[in-house]
Amino acid sequence: MSLLLPIIAAEIKSQGPLSVARYMAMALGHDQYGYYTKQDPFGAQGDFITSPEISQMFGEMLGLWCAAVDQSLGLSGPINLVELGPGRGTLMCDALRAAGSVPGFLERVRVSLVETSPVLRARQKTSLEPFDVEVTWYDRFEDVTEGPMLVIGNEFFDAMPVHQYVRAKDGWFERLVGLAKDQSTLVFELSADKIDQNLIAEVLLNTAKIDDVFEDQAISKTIMTKIAERLVAHGGAAVFLDYGHDQHALGDTFQAMRTHQFVDVLSNPGDQDLTVHVDFEQMSQAAKKAGADVYGPLAQGVFLESLGLRQRAGALKASATQDQLFDVNRAYSRLTSPEQMGSLFRVIALGSSGQRMGSSGQSTGSSGQNARPKDLNVPPWS
Ligand SMILES: C[S@@+](CC[C@H](N)C(=O)[O-])C[C@H]1O[C@@H](n2cnc3c(N)ncnc32)[C@H](O)[C@@H]1O
Repeated sequence: MSLLLPIIAAEIKSQGPLSVARYMAMALGHDQYGYYTKQDPFGAQGDFITSPEISQMFGEMLGLWCAAVDQSLGLSGPINLVELGPGRGTLMCDALRAAGSVPGFLERVRVSLVETSPVLRARQKTSLEPFDVEVTWYDRFEDVTEGPMLVIGNEFFDAMPVHQYVRAKDGWFERLVGLAKDQSTLVFELSADKIDQNLIAEVLLNTAKIDDVFEDQAISKTIMTKIAERLVAHGGAAVFLDYGHDQHALGDTFQAMRTHQFVDVLSNPGDQDLTVHVDFEQMSQAAKKAGADVYGPLAQGVFLESLGLRQRAGALKASATQDQLFDVNRAYSRLTSPEQMGSLFRVIALGSSGQRMGSSGQSTGSSGQNARPKDLNVPPWS
């Protein structure tokens, strides 16, 4: 029995039905019974598995991406390596180990982890103990100390609450979470009032049919805007990987997962993972509006291959036992194959063509001044 359900029910009784965004925020982040607040949900014993938990190669590639972009942009002073939603800290751990092979990089790095879960913060602390780097935790990206930064987020935005809007005969309405007649189970219903049509991506307004759903990634867009503003002001780059679609699309992508099975989104809030597919067009638009350059989206498989995943797998296999060989082959295929995570997972990167490089945000001269977008050419995106 979900301990959060009575709390959600009480809020609905006192304030009326909740937006899907509010429901998602409570189910994932309630300060006592939220899904991420109270547990480590990863791995075979948990509810789902993510790329860094599949293979060390994933974090290693991202660590090398950071070091390569750092060089490409001509950054020279202290650099803030920021991760949004770092899970168990596995990605950061693998990234730091790989980036440590680039002379002088780690010495300039301090790590900032944006994480709300106390359980996962403790796990991250243990993961990062072997590294001689300063690590600071933050609840929100906007609290991260200002300065040049390299930002990574894997499967972070799929956990950010969305508003869902539904096309009805006479206009668009918000999808809400209310109480069934028995007063103890949750049901979807529509808002009494129409919503402002401007909330729907314009390109979809004429194609939407009755019951079609549009998901507004309001919170993700706000975070993207803040990241983009920081990149424009202080320099650096960001990379985000998640499952989703490159262009605006209609559809209800809200889903729940428990013990590696899809389950009903309204059952057992706080005891199952809730996610949505990321609309990368909404994300890109927010970043561009704030002045950043956006690269991609492109397929995760293509991205990882361009960073040298095949070569890394080959190196691991060269000294592998029979079992390890099997594991490396399976991980490589899971991360890159279009039938698995290679295509559904998309990658975008942000940079700023007008950025001024250097430790204090000042221009460093020929190597760093006015770094152009092509300087972010790892991988070589157009
Ligand atoms: C799906 S997990 C991804 C974990 C990790 N990046 C990985 O790939 O294994 C989502 C992560 O985001 C964190 N998270 C969820 N909501 C958050 C929020 N509002 N602010 C910061 N972190 C959040 C979770 O605690 C978890 O670490």
